[in-house]
Amino acid sequence: MQSITLTVNGKSYTRDVEPRMLLVDFIRNALGLTGTNIACDTSQCGACTIHMDGMAVKSCTVLAVQADGADITTIEGLATNGHLHPMQQAFWDQHGLQCGYCTPGMIMAAAKLVENNPGITEAEIRHGLEGNLCRCTGYQNIVKAVAQAAAAGS
Ligand code: FES
Ligand code: FES
Repeated sequence: MQSITLTVNGKSYTRDVEPRMLLVDFIRNALGLTGTNIACDTSQCGACTIHMDGMAVKSCTVLAVQADGADITTIEGLATNGHLHPMQQAFWDQHGLQCGYCTPGMIMAAAKLVENNPGITEAEIRHGLEGNLCRCTGYQNIVKAVAQAAAAGS
């Protein structure tokens, strides 16, 4: 076992972990933050996307020990003071989901994609979200939601 200390959604945690433990399993099982989903476990689908030190990262591709010292935000930490993040609000407004399984990862990836890029084009949104798969929506409303959030300056 190895001791790690990291910040998740503004709170510091120190835990002993096995060196082989994936960050997504640490987030879900050790911290109980189950908003971050697992689907493929092989870096294909993006359901496990989080923010790590300011970047959108697929947390099934990172070992928990590699996140020692990191500053992490999960979907549970995206809203502030009871107000949805503009990307969450846009998914709500545009109905950018059906079953919702891909949604946390999609929102986390999209939030970073549009950061400081209010003029992002539809083609750039589609290209930027290629690593996030959705089996339900056909993507149309997801793209609309991301465009709305980008225009709102999220
Ligand atoms: S579960 Fe991580 S990319 Fe699919
Ligand atoms: S809403 Fe079902 S996988 Fe995207």
